[in-house]
Amino acid sequence: MTLRIGPYALSSNIVLAPMAGVTDRPFRSLCRKFGAGMAASEMLTADMRLWDTPKSRRRMDFSGETSPRVVQIAGFDPMMMAEAARRNVDAGAQIIDINMGCPAKKVCNRLAGSALLQDEALVARILRAVVNAVAVPVTLKTRTGWDRGNKNGLGIARIAEDCGIQALAIHGRTRADMYRGIAEHETVRTIKSAIGIPVFANGDIDSPVRAREILAATGCDGIMIGRAAQGRPWIFGEVNSFLRKGELREELARENVRDIMRAHLEDLYDFYGDVTGVRVARKHLGWYLRQCLGNEALRNRLLRIETPREQLATLLEHFDVRGHLAA
Ligand SMILES: Cc1cc2nc3c(=O)[nH]c(=O)nc-3n(C[C@H](O)[C@H](O)[C@H](O)COP(=O)(O)O)c2cc1C
Repeated sequence: MTLRIGPYALSSNIVLAPMAGVTDRPFRSLCRKFGAGMAASEMLTADMRLWDTPKSRRRMDFSGETSPRVVQIAGFDPMMMAEAARRNVDAGAQIIDINMGCPAKKVCNRLAGSALLQDEALVARILRAVVNAVAVPVTLKTRTGWDRGNKNGLGIARIAEDCGIQALAIHGRTRADMYRGIAEHETVRTIKSAIGIPVFANGDIDSPVRAREILAATGCDGIMIGRAAQGRPWIFGEVNSFLRKGELREELARENVRDIMRAHLEDLYDFYGDVTGVRVARKHLGWYLRQCLGNEALRNRLLRIETPREQLATLLEHFDVRGHLAA
């Protein structure tokens, strides 16, 4: 069954998780191309005084992306959040996602992200302000609660539904868990069964088999994948195909991986310019090499390179004509 968020029918119910420093426009486009049904931007602060930087400007750049274009905002002040949402919709955002799932210090010091889960009245004020400010769907990304003694994810979900939020993504950890341990999806199941809006299960879903298990165990409408897509953006195609046919696809041929990496790097140079492009590419190269090629020496060499030309050439020279990695 097609999953809808407001007027948008998603091409797949497997979506990319927002990840600051990762889900820039090139990476979102890549994941969408491989079958992610939706891909939210990196989180953008609601404090518009901080928007006039190259970093924020790039975070607000979604030119050429396929619909629905989702912008994630984070903040603690309802009016600032509402204004940030409005400005992003004016700039072309088609869905606004609110971040109450990220435990990063930078966000939490200012009581934003998942730190807000402590204050349900403030959560309601923020959600209501944003929903009332824009005509597009507003979604919420959250965790199972503040800490294990205060798993108020269900209460937050009810507030969200009440305030007009149109979909939820729930990471199966509490804020206090940070990224420790293993995500638990029992609470996600409880939340899903108690509310009527679509729910995406998130946390440690790293394979087609795991995606199917979690869909079945939670009854959720969709799955959100984050870290498992780093260095493996084609995971969305693998999951979609497995859910449709019940069979695992063969691993991608190395020449396909090479071509994906090359196109990704070129897109990064184009998007960030040479200096930042090479730096951002290093991170993705590290993930690709860890995931698929396992070549430590190559990884170390690539990390020291400063120019796009040399970075690309070094990568390509390690593939022979048949697309295999040279020893
Ligand atoms: C590097 C990194 C950056 C993240 N940045 C954000 C963010 O900006 N907004 C957000 O809601 N969650 C953020 N998260 C959390 C992810 O969206 C996701 O909930 C979490 O990684 C669990 O999913 P996974 O196990 O599939 O990675 C981030 C996670 C990582 C690893």
